[in-house]
Amino acid sequence: MGAITIQELTKSYGETNVLKGIDLAIDDGEFLILVGPSGCGKSTLMNCIAGLEDITSGELFIGDDNVTSVNPKDRDIAMVFQSYALYPTMTVERNIRFGLEMRKYPKDEIESTVKDVAKLLQIEHLLDRKPSQLSGGQRQRVAMGRALARSPRVFLFDEPLSNLDAKLRVEMRTEIKKLHKRLGTTIVYVTHDQVEAMTLADRIAVMKDGIVQQFGTPYEIYNDPANRFVADFMGSPAMNFVECIVFEGNLIVESGNQRHEVVIPNTQAVIDSGLETVILGLRPEMITEPKPHAESGYITQMQLGVQVTEPTGPDTLAFGEWNGQEIQARLSPEVGAQAEIDGEVQIQVDTGKAVLFHPQTGARI
Ligand SMILES: Nc1ncnc2c1ncn2[C@@H]1O[C@H](COP(=O)(O)OP(=O)(O)OP(=O)(O)O)[C@@H](O)[C@H]1O
Ligand SMILES: [Mg+2]
Repeated sequence: MGAITIQELTKSYGETNVLKGIDLAIDDGEFLILVGPSGCGKSTLMNCIAGLEDITSGELFIGDDNVTSVNPKDRDIAMVFQSYALYPTMTVERNIRFGLEMRKYPKDEIESTVKDVAKLLQIEHLLDRKPSQLSGGQRQRVAMGRALARSPRVFLFDEPLSNLDAKLRVEMRTEIKKLHKRLGTTIVYVTHDQVEAMTLADRIAVMKDGIVQQFGTPYEIYNDPANRFVADFMGSPAMNFVECIVFEGNLIVESGNQRHEVVIPNTQAVIDSGLETVILGLRPEMITEPKPHAESGYITQMQLGVQVTEPTGPDTLAFGEWNGQEIQARLSPEVGAQAEIDGEVQIQVDTGKAVLFHPQTGARI
């Protein structure tokens, strides 16, 4: 059983508190993605799970076993470090087989495993080389191969694809997803890549300053963010935030000589909050050119001054300002091209799925 239960885990280095009470219950066979800004404690948490760092307080279980003070090698975990260390004097092949030999796997099983893993990671042609003769991305794949050759209870991957080129990265992402489907082993995986996070995860834990801000499915994190930090951190291009005046449960956005009354679904929550202003959170896909069949009661039409456009291929992002705040609209390539020429565009804002935040604390309303 590879479930991981983390209870009130803290980790300090002297006076510096890096992890400030982490509670996570990761199911057996789950693919957990850990995201958060640089320095928020992701690698530290991985090292604590692996047992490479002692924890300051709290408890850690794998399956039913309390492993809080169990030696790393007895935790049955395979890990790929952020700064992957290979044995420099051994060939790639030896690097991959070494752990299996130490664990006394049968010889023919080692042979076939090394072959399978090398094929999966596209490093078959490199098996006789030493690490010093490899590129960064090749080394990273060998490090991955060393972990994947084993059949542990848990895999820990700390940014395992960060050094690969874009194409290989996408291929490896798919291979990892297939592998997880086939093996069903619990995986904790750190990434800075939004697409990796959304596509691989069963659930995502978003961290900031040593605290888990939200733990949920990719759908929940994207559509139902717990606070402004999560909303801002997840999603590319990022969510738009516009300050509004609250008036009788509706939201007023005053921008230059335009005034828009914006209708939102959760009127009562806004009234109950007693706030005079709130922050309206809108994903770029909620700001588009007018759709002919838009019948929802949450549509606001307006004219957006366009400062710059960025064609991405399938659609074009248009940057403008609303109430002094930069917003990004997602337009079709044709409308986007015209908007670039005209310097303005007619848009609709669909607030049917907008989210609201407290203007000072960033908490969800
Ligand atoms: N041995 C140490 N002594 C003191 N502080 C440390 C030590 N190791 C890490 N830290 C601090 O702990 C914090 C978290 O570091 P960690 O490596 O876990 O961040 P991270 O989320 O993995 O960041 P990144 O995305 O850049 O890899 C950082 O502020 C770091 O400086
Ligand atoms: Mg790290």
